[in-house]
Amino acid sequence: MNLFAGVTNAKSPVVRLRDLIRNFEQAGNLVQVLKGLSFEVYPGEFVAVQGSSGSGKSTLLQILGLLDRASSGLYELLGRDVSRLDDDELSALRADTTGFVFQNFYLIPYATALENVLLPGLYSGKSQKRARERAEFLLESVGLGDRRDFLPARLSGGQQQRVAMARALFNEPALILADEPTGQLDSGTSSDILDLLGRFNREGQTIIMVTHDSQTASRAGRRILITDGIIESDELL
Ligand SMILES: Nc1ncnc2c1ncn2[C@@H]1O[C@H](COP(=O)(O)OP(=O)(O)OP(=O)(O)O)[C@@H](O)[C@H]1O
Ligand SMILES: [Mg+2]
Repeated sequence: MNLFAGVTNAKSPVVRLRDLIRNFEQAGNLVQVLKGLSFEVYPGEFVAVQGSSGSGKSTLLQILGLLDRASSGLYELLGRDVSRLDDDELSALRADTTGFVFQNFYLIPYATALENVLLPGLYSGKSQKRARERAEFLLESVGLGDRRDFLPARLSGGQQQRVAMARALFNEPALILADEPTGQLDSGTSSDILDLLGRFNREGQTIIMVTHDSQTASRAGRRILITDGIIESDELL
């Protein structure tokens, strides 16, 4: 008997996938994009999902972020089988538990840095004062305390991504999902953004990042390599 069997799995996973499949209809044909993925992500992990263009990374991230549903298989987020939830319940769970960072930042162009960080607070039930204090704290923590009243167009790409990262943290999500977060940035700025993700992770934040780039993936603590919708390898770094 392995006395430690229960110890290594003492924490319950943030994410649990079993035989996850996603099919799309393309020109009348059913195409299987995710072909049965199974893995767990535990609290405090920083996981990179690496694969070439078209391998299904964004498809996977959309499902993990409750923006899309699997065709079959199990997805449990924080122990909840999400296939049992209706769209309103999915939206509520998404707002409560996930924060997104995208390649294109997706900031609201006519809102200031501070207002962009505040956006998730519109639904959080926080008082306006507390929400503003939290947004100011987060902007400070990503090094943009002096840019709070700037519109996105007046910020550099790296600064825009830092605003997006502060916004992603607003509701203290159990899980940060990042899709090619450095895809638009030069190598020096990319390194700064990955440093920041690493810092969030050291502070306890669970992160899943997808990227086609092995150097970017190597900044995570674990790499899951996907080829053509199948897990090819899953290694600690
Ligand atoms: N809504 C959709 N309808 C039909 N096919 C889709 C849909 N979304 C994605 N696909 C297909 O699924 C495959 C994987 O797409 P996905 O965007 O997940 O790839 P990716 O790994 O993120 O690629 P990239 O590195 O270029 O971002 C592609 O062949 C794409 O055409
Ligand atoms: Mg993609």
